[in-house]
Amino acid sequence: MAPRLTVIGTGYLGATHAACMAKLGFEVMGMDVDAEKLAELAAGRAPMYEPGLDELLAEQVASGRLRFTTSYQEAAEFGDVHFVSVGTPQLRGEFAADVSYINTAFDGLAEHTARLGKEALIVGKSTVPVGTADRLAARLAETAPTVEVAWNPEFLREGFAVQDTLRPDRLVIGVRSQRAEDLLREVYAEPLAAGVPLVVTDFPTAEMAKVSANAFLATKISFINAMAEVCEAAGADVVQLADTLGYDDRIGRRFLNSGLGFGGGCLPKDIRAFMARAGELGADQALTFLREVDSINMRRRARMVELAREQCGGGFLGKRVAVLGAAFKPNSDDIRDSPALNVAGQIQLQGAQVTVYDPKAVDNARKMFPALAYADSAVEAARGAHVVLHLTEWQEFRDMDPSELEGAVSEKRILDGRNVLDPDKWRTAGWTYRALGRPQ
Ligand code: UGA
Repeated sequence: MAPRLTVIGTGYLGATHAACMAKLGFEVMGMDVDAEKLAELAAGRAPMYEPGLDELLAEQVASGRLRFTTSYQEAAEFGDVHFVSVGTPQLRGEFAADVSYINTAFDGLAEHTARLGKEALIVGKSTVPVGTADRLAARLAETAPTVEVAWNPEFLREGFAVQDTLRPDRLVIGVRSQRAEDLLREVYAEPLAAGVPLVVTDFPTAEMAKVSANAFLATKISFINAMAEVCEAAGADVVQLADTLGYDDRIGRRFLNSGLGFGGGCLPKDIRAFMARAGELGADQALTFLREVDSINMRRRARMVELAREQCGGGFLGKRVAVLGAAFKPNSDDIRDSPALNVAGQIQLQGAQVTVYDPKAVDNARKMFPALAYADSAVEAARGAHVVLHLTEWQEFRDMDPSELEGAVSEKRILDGRNVLDPDKWRTAGWTYRALGRPQ
């Protein structure tokens, strides 16, 4: 009989994983402490905007393969393989990750599984400090000897969560027994049969596979943004530079998009947690470059504020600024560590009246940044603006014709924080177009 699966923590990762595993034909139970969130999921509404996920949830709940609970006991009774996908946020005032939710989930499952005398595999999916799986396995060996631990990091991207889960570009499993490997091969039989590469490894390598990937991606973005700083000083064009670099297969064009830099719930906190963990392991020197990656990233936001101030004649008092974009990236309503909102907030604090528009993230932004003004369209946000800032590259903004905003703005000035608008189009239409790392 196919193993029955649970997914503990139904946030971004867990909700997607649960729905996708049900889609693959497994009986799945999603468990979360938040009953309200579960009611929404059961009604086919994901806790965040993610293309295709609402439909998938509704379809899988209707099929009877996907159900939800708030009880560890029910989860333990139901599942043979438990995927743990709870959050590991940055600790307040520190770089390190908070692993308390992971500990609670493993302990909760282990306690009930041991009481039932049942065999089970608990598979960590969350991004954790290297060494966490070893530590949990040692703990469970004492409290719940019938429970085994495995680690299976997740590489999905927001905006592509469903397709990345059903057809990941690789699967990594850290295991200590053939039985654990066999169970996970069974769970992932479909993607494996479709040719997805599988790396079977030890716990620390599996954990590092995830943080090092995010560290590399962050470094790649900060590399091109460092080049943008030099381009700006030298009068060179960072977009053309990225294209030339990208033609070299060894480098590749992806993740060389310069602009406001990286935000979101993963890259910024993961590089910081990685540095903190390396420090604990006595290997802090190896990752000091990530400090630079982080500060290059934060400098982009400051530079955008400076450019906007320049365009407002040297000060923001009495000026109106339109901000296009609030999500940390397009096709998402996630505003965690959003570069766009960070810039909007800084400018507002310096005295401008800032109006933000985003196709999906306005509701979330309003809750977090109530002092900013919000609009229902780009044109409305641009009304009376002395400068328009393009900060999250939604397709809607890429496709925008300058004439759409012309009647609304007070001055035809646009700053492209994502280097995707066509400078010629805007300049020909009589706008002052400025971008980070591109000639004036
Ligand atoms: C990232 C990784 O890409 C996933 O593989 C990983 O699973 C995930 O974190 C995670 O750890 O859960 P995500 O945070 O969804 O995924 O977003 P990305 O597409 O990586 O973008 C991150 C940030 O970098 C965004 O703010 C984006 O605007 C920025 N970015 C990305 C750039 O500034 N330039 C680029 O060329 C690419």
